[in-house]
Amino acid sequence: MASSTTTLPLCTNKTLSSSFTHNSFVAKPSQFFLHGSRRQSFKVSCNANNSGEHEKNLEGVDRRNVLLGLGGLYGAANLAPLATASPIPPPDLNSCGTATITDGPPVPYSCCPPKPEDLDSVPYYKFPSVTKLRIRQPAHAVDEEYIAKYQLAISRMRELDKLDPFDPIGFKQQANVHCAYCNGAYKIGGKELQVHFSWLFFPFHRWYLYFYERILGSLINDPTFALPYWNWDHPKGMCLPPMFDVEGSSLYDAKRNPHVRNGTTMDLGSFGEEVQTTQLQQMANNLTLMYRQMITNAPCPLLFFGKPYPLGTDPSPGMGTIEDIPHNAIHAWTGTVRDNVTSFGEDMGNFYSAGLDPVFYCHHGNVDRMWNVWKTLGGKRKDLADKDWLNSEFFFYDENRNPWRVKVRDCLDSKKMGYDYEPMPTPWRYCKPIRKTTTGKVNTGALPPASKVFPLAKLDRAISFSINRPASSRTSQEKREQEELLTFNHVKYDDRKNIRFDVFLNVNKTFNADELDKPEFAGCYTNLPHVHGDTHTADASFQLAINELMEDNGLEDEDTIAVTLVPKKGGEVISIESAEIKLEDC
Ligand code: C2O
Repeated sequence: MASSTTTLPLCTNKTLSSSFTHNSFVAKPSQFFLHGSRRQSFKVSCNANNSGEHEKNLEGVDRRNVLLGLGGLYGAANLAPLATASPIPPPDLNSCGTATITDGPPVPYSCCPPKPEDLDSVPYYKFPSVTKLRIRQPAHAVDEEYIAKYQLAISRMRELDKLDPFDPIGFKQQANVHCAYCNGAYKIGGKELQVHFSWLFFPFHRWYLYFYERILGSLINDPTFALPYWNWDHPKGMCLPPMFDVEGSSLYDAKRNPHVRNGTTMDLGSFGEEVQTTQLQQMANNLTLMYRQMITNAPCPLLFFGKPYPLGTDPSPGMGTIEDIPHNAIHAWTGTVRDNVTSFGEDMGNFYSAGLDPVFYCHHGNVDRMWNVWKTLGGKRKDLADKDWLNSEFFFYDENRNPWRVKVRDCLDSKKMGYDYEPMPTPWRYCKPIRKTTTGKVNTGALPPASKVFPLAKLDRAISFSINRPASSRTSQEKREQEELLTFNHVKYDDRKNIRFDVFLNVNKTFNADELDKPEFAGCYTNLPHVHGDTHTADASFQLAINELMEDNGLEDEDTIAVTLVPKKGGEVISIESAEIKLEDC
């Protein structure tokens, strides 16, 4: 097979070059970059040992759950919240109810899975022995033979629905798994169970894909079958993978936003507004977003995974970096335009329906791959050790329609689960925005202090303020020990709306908020619409790690810095109570 070499003229202090041995489906956007012949591979390790503290505990039943009668499958609904923290048990299937799709006229949607015959004895999952790893490949680079297999597996899964719409391994019921865990059908301890906007995000989706992949494999009698991954962190993968864009194929979904077709370059920060920019700038923005979300803003486990969500607390305490961008944005980019009348973002733009688009599982393949990659990036980038996370549980059906309960602690190492990712270069690693040559602090004296700007009732236009730092001129040792976190407390908004606002440091009036490949760009906050019972106000805290930005903008010795917030979507429904800079241990 011919190999092509791509040179990316981005990130100008370093010319990126990578070689590809796949030649199928060269997407339009990447042709943009094709030139040169120097052959060089990135040193990428996506298969480092992830184990850390993987403890086999498949037989263990969480004692606290049993004592308190809270083990979801065994428990009753509407229990009072617990005073002490404990892990989220598997959902209570007896109390599974109607999901909520939207805020408009109520659209009841039923997505509870079929109940196992003997609800009380759903066992803990045991991994079948692994003889050969299933290798997930980048979706833009798979061959025709693979595509044919994948199409066949999905069409067989769709056919199961015709025989029995309640078949737990049918296409519809598999999509419903996502709905039940995300749109309020499951309750835990009297509150809605939500697997997004918290530390449950990565492990829930990993287990979900694990079973989905095994079901597809069994439908085509190929135990080595692996889902593809949507390689959106690489310029070659920054468009809808072509195999999903073939009308009539089982991989096609007519409900997608038409703008995603025909190799349109993605915007990894998209929130429905088209950014008027060049394709090159778009790619540079995307790679910078990846750099920020994987490296700058995710030096600590809780920043990457999301906020703690023990039993008894409210759902949606706060997202990790990758869930925010690009995960949410890609859902919004792929789903249809949300007009609240005829559509609510179906399929990809709404959690209840996202699993009905086959590309969902391909998108989440790459989200899952980012978990593995993040753990190879060094520093404190390791799995959480908190028992409330490790012992949280989910409920799934396997390829033989057997029900199982699974624990977070058993999904930390994808190889132990029997799969891995074919490595691809991760060019965003080298896309640290370049340090400014003309350093200089903007005049913070001319700006209102944070104490005057907050509480901010409405983020309906860009605002700048000055804010004090708890310490300046920190040593490298001090910086390793504590992260400097720009923190926004009680960011409240209508959670039924698409939201995005961006944060910049030390900018003057002439900056361009559509160019993110700059050291001043700190990060963004987004929301994908989702409904929580009757209260529609999300209340989250949002933190950006700014150690690097202080260095890159020459601000290390400053006591006060300038911060600018730029609303990009839904600013009129966002309020923020306060802003502060804190030093925190990871
Ligand atoms: Cu469960 Cu991408 O969402």
